[in-house]
Amino acid sequence: MNAITAPPAPETSTQLSTRLSRASVKKLWNVYGDIAWPESVDIGGEWFMTPELVSLYGTPAWDALDETGRKRLSFYDLVNFFSLTLHGERPLVQGLCNQMYARQNAEVTEYIHHFLDEENKHMVMFGEFCSRYAGKVYAQKKLVVPKTYAKGEEDVTFFIKVLIVEELGDYYNVMMQRDASIAPISREINRIHHADEARHIIFGRRLLAELWNEHAPKWQPETLTGLRTWLAGYLKASWNDFYNPTAYKDAGIADAYDARQAALAAECCREHRRRVSRKLVDYFIDTGILEAEPAL
Ligand SMILES: [Fe+2]
Ligand SMILES: [Fe+2]
Repeated sequence: MNAITAPPAPETSTQLSTRLSRASVKKLWNVYGDIAWPESVDIGGEWFMTPELVSLYGTPAWDALDETGRKRLSFYDLVNFFSLTLHGERPLVQGLCNQMYARQNAEVTEYIHHFLDEENKHMVMFGEFCSRYAGKVYAQKKLVVPKTYAKGEEDVTFFIKVLIVEELGDYYNVMMQRDASIAPISREINRIHHADEARHIIFGRRLLAELWNEHAPKWQPETLTGLRTWLAGYLKASWNDFYNPTAYKDAGIADAYDARQAALAAECCREHRRRVSRKLVDYFIDTGILEAEPAL
């Protein structure tokens, strides 16, 4: 008789949390001791981002810059990238606090303690880089529109936001931690961030899929349509934050606002946004959260 073995059941968020908590303890790091901050950095003299990841790459504003200008822009663009990540982590930490104990079980709650600890350290790390070398963290405004939610919709919305900030950022972290041609402090921060984010992303993907499967089938069609429209808009708005005219001005670009508009409209930049978003959008489509690729 042929033995038919059932495929292994997928790991639940509860089982996954236990495993991730163990990994977080094993990889515990100290934000106040583990990073060797150089006394100063050479703005205009070294690369801080992989050139292809600089937001204006391939646009006329980029072409008009000499090598020093491009390197200088890579510094301010990195400060913007770290600033927008930090600003994405602030509401994340707030929302994670709300998910503990009452809303989630003991294993998930235990992992959220690690998640919070790691996000707090990320904010310290990004804040330190920006303040130390640029003298500031760029401001970021995200409008919070109060609304009433269907059952489970608020949690689904929250974990969608978490995944967007973490997955877009992680693409950059992974590319830059490997790039030996950029400043060592930039590589190091990208490496540290990715090491923690790899766990956050797998956790967020699992928990969001579970929440979606539990709640979405019970929603009215207009709730589903509303959420999908919101998601597409939120993803686009998150991308817009990568193009910061204040950073362009600091880098010495004369028509900073026009440079931003040109990059948002340029086909090469749209291709870049689609490439970076691909894994995330595939996940949204595979889970049924989205029905089609949104315009970026
Ligand atoms: Fe983070
Ligand atoms: Fe994270």
